[in-house]
Amino acid sequence: MTVHRLSPEILSAMEGAVGRNGIAVEPAGMAKYLGDWAGDYQGDALAVLRPGSVAEVQALMRLCNELGLGVVPQGGNTGLVSGAIDSKGGGLVVLSLERLNAIRQIDADNFTLRADAGCVLQTIKDACEARDCLFPLALGAQGSCQIGGNAATNAGGVNVLRYGMARDLILGLEVVLADGELWSGFSGLRKNNSGYDLKQLFIGSEGTLGIITGVEVKLFPKPAKTETAYLGLASFEAAVTLFNRARRDCSDLISAFEIIGAECIELARLVDPTTRAPVPAPVQVLIELSSSAAIDLNGLLAGFLGDAVESGLVTDAVLAASTAQARRFWAIREGLVEGQAKRGYHVRTDLSVKISDIPALIKQARRFVANDHPGWLPLAYGHAGDGNIHFNVLPPAELAGHEARARGAEVVAGLYEIAAGLGGSISAEHGIGRSRRKEFWAGLSPTHRRMVAALKNALDPKGLMNPGCLLPPTETFP
Ligand code: FAD
Ligand code: LAC
Ligand code: ZN
Repeated sequence: MTVHRLSPEILSAMEGAVGRNGIAVEPAGMAKYLGDWAGDYQGDALAVLRPGSVAEVQALMRLCNELGLGVVPQGGNTGLVSGAIDSKGGGLVVLSLERLNAIRQIDADNFTLRADAGCVLQTIKDACEARDCLFPLALGAQGSCQIGGNAATNAGGVNVLRYGMARDLILGLEVVLADGELWSGFSGLRKNNSGYDLKQLFIGSEGTLGIITGVEVKLFPKPAKTETAYLGLASFEAAVTLFNRARRDCSDLISAFEIIGAECIELARLVDPTTRAPVPAPVQVLIELSSSAAIDLNGLLAGFLGDAVESGLVTDAVLAASTAQARRFWAIREGLVEGQAKRGYHVRTDLSVKISDIPALIKQARRFVANDHPGWLPLAYGHAGDGNIHFNVLPPAELAGHEARARGAEVVAGLYEIAAGLGGSISAEHGIGRSRRKEFWAGLSPTHRRMVAALKNALDPKGLMNPGCLLPPTETFP
């Protein structure tokens, strides 16, 4: 049964658990927790709960469990698939981790860090840097997203090809379960092969199995040198060939290899009108090498690029002469994402295929849009070194919002079909959330569904953790 408002008794029990400042029920106080970054979704909640300690999270979960009240965990609310925002009228509460935001411990000798789940990723990265360490998770939203949200979504970003996704960086988790019980899975150990690795269940679970309250991560030596270059190429085929050569010739030192279709530059200009692509080419690549040892990275990259230009693979290359110039290159990559949001509603995807299939994916997707949705503008960019392409499509400016969304759903379906035809995934790094739930669930085999349902039922038997996100309602399980 959906609850439409919280009774004074329930509100006072919640206030008892979390204090008066830890709860918002008025629309103005809740607004910033109920809309997403891109302005695509507007949700709703009975209350926003803001616990200030792990004990308060436990007390709230015990209460919600007793009342049968569904809970949407929320981190920095930068997710792109509506996982932290309920649909309207769902009768749920949002539980924000933002007040649980301390770094608990940095152990620079063992290269580990423990933090509260609500700690902002940038805060963690800065604290590591101050201790001559690197926490390599890096994404455009790092100034707002939280380490607990990164764990819950198994975030990726621009350094995955060197350091892996959030899953590869997490050593331990602390989790409050649906009934309020606390599980502490910290050990500080890099090797620990004793039985089921329970933390892996919660990584990527998008708030559907429990509330992550603490995260322990691996650190790396801080790079002493970083070299960045912006390249122009004639085709996506050439970009894939270049990546393969770079993997061989630049040892294990590549930390980022991003591709940007030239059509995306206009979007970056919406954020900064002075933006200009450093090279005029249909396909542009941002490559970064880094090393903690004082080796001649500049010579290595310059030599590699010299050969690539001479052989005709790369048509233009600009090696950043300063950190400021490298930052300007990265600003283009970040600006184009922000620029899309400025344009308003757009089709957003997060496809992955084998690296060698990137050219086929982009060719088929562009052909599909041109033939079936003339007037729509395709944009191709992404983490080419991981086979992860954000193939996004802007509706014609004159199309009204609701019409664009209806047509947009057809565009998405067509793009998912193309990815499936290449054996790819519809979610490389953003997760499933509410936006991709139907397609995700429909694509699973009966055996896969049964195992997922068994796990969900075991850890959240009342179906209170983030209902509607990732999974269909538990009562419809096989
Ligand atoms: P939220 O958005 O608050 O929540 C996301 C999901 O996790 C929800 O289902 C929520 O219920 C759950 N959740 C959050 N915190 C907890 C918790 N403590 N316990 C249990 N469940 C929880 N993503 C990438 O992977 N790679 C990118 O390159 C990338 N770039 C981005 C660039 C921009 C400009 C933006 C806006 C987003 C980008 N993202 C990217 C998406 C997003 O930043 C990541 O998914 C991020 O990990 C979400 O973290 P968050 O704290 O904002 O989580
Ligand atoms: C990026 C986000 C959108 O790669 O995943 O910029
Ligand atoms: Zn991405």
